[in-house]
Formats: sequence, structure tokens, C-alpha cells
Amino acid sequence: MAESKTQIPPEELRGQEVSGHDFSRAGAGSTKTGALAPEGATPAPRPRVRAMKEYHPPLGSRDTLRLDFNENTVACSPKVREVLAAISAGSLTRYPEREPVEALVAAHLGRAPEQVALTNGVDEAIHVLFETFLDSGDELLLPVPTYTMYEVYASATEARTVAIQAGDDLAFPHERLLAALSPRTKIIAIANPNSPSGSVATRAQLLEIVRRAPQAVIFVDEAYFHFHGETLMDLVGTLPNLVVARTFSKAYGLAGLRLGVLAGPAALMRWVRRVLSPYSVNSLALACLPAALEDQAYVDRYVSEVLAARAAFETALDAVHVRRWPSRANFILVEIGPRHAEFVRLMREAGVLVRDRSSDPGCDGRVRITIGTQEQMRQAAAALKQTMAALGEGAQPMIAEQEPRRAST
Ligand SMILES: Cc1ncc(COP(=O)(O)O)c(C=O)c1O
Repeated sequence: MAESKTQIPPEELRGQEVSGHDFSRAGAGSTKTGALAPEGATPAPRPRVRAMKEYHPPLGSRDTLRLDFNENTVACSPKVREVLAAISAGSLTRYPEREPVEALVAAHLGRAPEQVALTNGVDEAIHVLFETFLDSGDELLLPVPTYTMYEVYASATEARTVAIQAGDDLAFPHERLLAALSPRTKIIAIANPNSPSGSVATRAQLLEIVRRAPQAVIFVDEAYFHFHGETLMDLVGTLPNLVVARTFSKAYGLAGLRLGVLAGPAALMRWVRRVLSPYSVNSLALACLPAALEDQAYVDRYVSEVLAARAAFETALDAVHVRRWPSRANFILVEIGPRHAEFVRLMREAGVLVRDRSSDPGCDGRVRITIGTQEQMRQAAAALKQTMAALGEGAQPMIAEQEPRRAST
């Protein structure tokens, strides 16, 4: 029960700076400092946490065309906005009750309620899954480049991350992944479609991995499912080691509400629920979710719009001879070369935010561009043309005019 959670009274925090507020100076009579700890001593984090890299996504000043975080670039369904507008202040006094909405989501996905957990975005699903299964001596297999947060959350556990590098085509490194399997492999995390490449693993490849690694959780992150259309969700519960995630942050346009879904066999989900907070999905998100699910027509319209815009933007990229990778998602990875940072800056100056992925493994000089509506991508194409002209010769060392055009995907 949340009510019985231990609260640390301020007087016990005397002498420690907590969230920028020094309780030693707060309140009447608190004149002594350092009552509980020697001067200068601070609690040490676990060694794994000390070794973690800081991750600061560039989220500041984004009031322009946001093609940098693969979000929905327009809005969520108007039906969701109606629900938000009707939320009473009184309803916020209650703790969120997730089970009825979880059951609704399970039905929507054709799964049993005990196979489905709602999470605070897929990010929490990743965090909780890793905390549940990754222990000292375990290995996380990670085809790279991929979504940054897998490595971030894995690095906080005692497990080892084994990166499986994709080749220059950034195709799913299936054979290399199979070769890296070991009895220590505990989780294999596969974003499908993958980010930042937009590439996909086939159903047959994923099922082979599921079969060849019965000791491991095969975590298939379908954050971009709606743009791809292929899924393993139908097999959740029938395979003992398959776990699938979905998000409401992309096609549904609800990134700000933080809503994710983790679906797996009940036997695995039971362990996940021990680690998952029963309160992590807030009541605003829970209230909105049924309306979001109901308005599938809205999601379908947005996805069709993005797919049309993606095809047109591919043509625009080809026209300025920028190399691109085939994408099954709402973004495209492009090759800019050594002047990638300047490209990102010039695009921003032209009113379009794009994401430099140069620090991703095997992605030096590459930039990811989210696909929005056709109108937005016309603006992006104009900015692209202007930016490439400004960069001039030498901006794209790897593009060859004679390179065959990539098929639209
Ligand atoms: C592959 C992948 N998974 C998960 C996420 C995060 O999803 P959420 O907003 O639900 O935490 C992203 C966000 O970019 C992503 O690219």
C-alpha cells in the first residue's frame, strides 16, 4: 500500500543536501550541520552506476519542426483530448488503478490479461525487464546500432552487454547474433523495426532465435510496429521465452503521457510484475488509453500519411544524392559524412530538427530524420536542398551518383 511507505522525516536528513534543498538550514532550531555524516562524505553509488555514462537527450528548445525523436509530429486523436479536458481535479487525488485498462489493452492485442503489463513508456518496460532477468554472469545480446536505452539500463545491472555489430548495410546481423549465443545469454533485445537504421528482422529470423536460445528472454521491441505492419504479438504466450513491447509514443502521438505495453507468457510476466511499480502508469495516461485504442481510424490515417511522406522524402534525398538506408519506420537514416554536425546545425537554422547519430556504433557521419506529414516533409526537403547546397562539395564522401537507387520500403 502506498500509504504505508516509509517517509524519511526531514530531521533525519539533516546535514545532507537532498534535491538541492539543504535540510540542515530548514526549519526552526536546525542550527547544527553534519550531525550524521563527516564533513564532505557523500554516499557512494554502486560501482556499475559510477561507471555508467550520462545520457542527456537533446530535448531543449524544440518549438520548430521536430524530426529528431521519431514522435508523431501532429497530435494525438481528438478523442483523447476530449478525455483529458474532462478530467476532474478530484480524480487526481486517487492512486491509479491499472488492471481494468490492462485488461482492455490485452483484449485489443488478443492476449490474456495476465500476459500484459502497462508500463511508463517502453523505457520502463526495458528497465524492469532487465532488472528482473539480468544478473551477474549473464549476457545481454544487443545487435547494434540500436535504441540507446537498452545499453543504459543494462549498464546499471551486473550483466555484460555483448554488442553484435551490423554491417555497412545496417541489416539485422542474424548470423552473427546466432554465433554469439552462449549458455550465459539471458536477454536478446531486438528493436523491430530498429532505430536508428529502420531495418527489420524477419519473422523467420526472430523465431529461429527464440528456438535457439530457450535459456534467454527474446525481447522484441515493436515501438514502430504501426509503420511496419508485421508483429510477433500473435505468438505471445505460445512461446515460453518471447516478450514483445509496444508503445503509445509513436503512431498514437502520446509520448508525453508515457504509455508502454509489455506482453509475454504469464509465467514470465509474474516475475516482471514483482519488480514493476503498481503505480508507474499515471491516472491521466490510464484515462486516455481507452479513447486512444478506440480511435484506430486516427492512427491508420496518421500512418498512411507518414508512409506517403516517407516515399516522397526518399525521392527528395535521392535528388540531392544523399545515401539512405531502407526504412520500415517513421524515420530514415542518411549519410552526411564528416560535416554531420554542421548539417544538423544548418537544418536547425532552416527550422528543422534532425538527430545526429554519429556516436552510435558504426554510424559515424549519419543523421536520422523523422518522417512527419507530407506537408512537413516538403518543408524538410526544402531545408535539405538548401543545407546540402550550403555544405557544398565534400559533404557526402560516400555518395556515388552511379550508386543504384534503393528500393522504397
Ligand atoms: C526502439 C525504441 N523503443 C522504445 C522507445 C521509447 O519508447 P517510449 O516512449 O514508450 O518509452 C523508442 C523511442 O525512441 C525506441 O526507438
